[in-house]
Amino acid sequence: MKILTVANRKGGAGKSTCAAHIAYEAVKSGLKVILIDMDPQKTLETWWQKREEENPFLVDTNATELFDMLEKLAEKNFDLCIIDTPGDASINAASGIKAADLILIPSKPTPPDLAAIGRTISLVEENKKPFAFVITQGIVRTKAALQAASVLSQFGGVAPSVISNRTSYANAMGQGASAGSFDKVAEEEISNVWRFLQARLFDEQKNIKQKLIA
Ligand SMILES: Nc1ncnc2c1ncn2[C@@H]1O[C@H](COP(=O)(O)OP(=O)(O)O)[C@@H](O)[C@H]1O
Ligand SMILES: [Mg+2]
Repeated sequence: MKILTVANRKGGAGKSTCAAHIAYEAVKSGLKVILIDMDPQKTLETWWQKREEENPFLVDTNATELFDMLEKLAEKNFDLCIIDTPGDASINAASGIKAADLILIPSKPTPPDLAAIGRTISLVEENKKPFAFVITQGIVRTKAALQAASVLSQFGGVAPSVISNRTSYANAMGQGASAGSFDKVAEEEISNVWRFLQARLFDEQKNIKQKLIA
């Protein structure tokens, strides 16, 4: 089981929206997915509660029990665990980062958000975790998203699609749905971001398997 943690010390970066949409996309690609919402605000859990489908699954835990819980989940044949974290320096955010195989850092393409991202990068690097960025809430036909991608790429990989600012994302969160179900542009964005993350998370394994076969 691979563990993807969504983190950014800034509130409103789009963490929970990304976590939900990536979970939906991962399920669509055939994975058994478990969600863990480490944020007391429970945005991801609220989205999940509105869903009828079983997969993605969700489990409640806390920072102290997280590692034991992850071991149990791995035994239950989950392929992917997505952990949403609060945008603060709490033990909940820290434990989510410690548990990760890969950390996704969503960021708005605005100067204040980019200026604040160093705190998140330091935290992730202190924990020696691989990470990647995705630009969220980008306004279509503005240069900000492109400029942000060029700034962020100096620090690490950036997802090949921006998650743009579309009401479909906010609506989907309120309905337990995915914006991709009713918005073609959102569908393409999310699917590109997921393919990028999927390669980061699982390709290494595929390479090892191929070597074993050869
Ligand atoms: N791509 C997007 N387009 C439009 N609204 C968005 C988008 N991503 C997030 N939002 C809105 O921005 C706010 C913060 O998003 P959220 O995912 O909860 O951020 P975080 O979890 O980082 O605090 C929410 O009101 C959400 O609906
Ligand atoms: Mg959140």
